[in-house]
Amino acid sequence: MPPPPTLLSDGVVALRRPEPVDGPHYWRMRNDLALVSSVMGFRLGVAGRSIEEWIASGAGVTGDDLLLTAVLISDSYRPIGYVKVFRVDRFSRHAWVGLSLFDEGDAGHGYGRRILTEVCDYVRDFVGLRKVSLEVLATNTRAVTLYRSLGFDQEGCLKSQYYTSGRFEDVLILSRFLQPSS
Ligand SMILES: CC(C)(COP(=O)(O)OP(=O)(O)OC[C@H]1O[C@@H](n2cnc3c(N)ncnc32)[C@H](O)[C@@H]1OP(=O)(O)O)[C@@H](O)C(=O)NCCC(=O)NCCS
Repeated sequence: MPPPPTLLSDGVVALRRPEPVDGPHYWRMRNDLALVSSVMGFRLGVAGRSIEEWIASGAGVTGDDLLLTAVLISDSYRPIGYVKVFRVDRFSRHAWVGLSLFDEGDAGHGYGRRILTEVCDYVRDFVGLRKVSLEVLATNTRAVTLYRSLGFDQEGCLKSQYYTSGRFEDVLILSRFLQPSS
């Protein structure tokens, strides 16, 4: 069977809507306490059935929001992570983004950079957004390094905002103005 069609691709990492085949990847990730904490996500665990229903019903996406699974083309379109664009404000042409890889073993190969670049280009060129923002734990050095190198600047810091691993952590708000492509 051919792989599901993808919406975006840079030739290495492609992005597409979540498919049932992605279920086990989301399931494992949503039950990995360290991983869900690093994305400041839902931390009570999720059952496999709930994931299947979630994907079948559109992965919780409403309105102009977007959730895309990232797949590695050279590895038989293996799902490696996701990116979401949410709270899209079409009047102010702003949205929030969030992303994560499913597996720590895939970190540090430039996939996060590719995913974020593809999605920023997409919302600029096809949705008409002007600015995107994200929240990140101040201690998440790898993520902060990546975001800053992609042109995200700090606009705020929520002090002692997020409780994880027995302590409160600061949360940074980073934003990037999307320059029009020539
Ligand atoms: C954060 C995340 C999305 C980054 O994606 P990635 O594919 O691992 O990152 P990339 O390989 O594209 O780039 C990472 C950058 O950080 C740098 N880096 C890697 N490890 C680092 C570390 N421990 N400290 C500082 N910088 C580090 C790399 O050198 C690279 O920079 P460069 O491209 O200028 O060389 C991914 O690691 C992930 O999903 N982590 C777990 C969940 C998470 O934290 N999500 C983000 C929540 S806001």
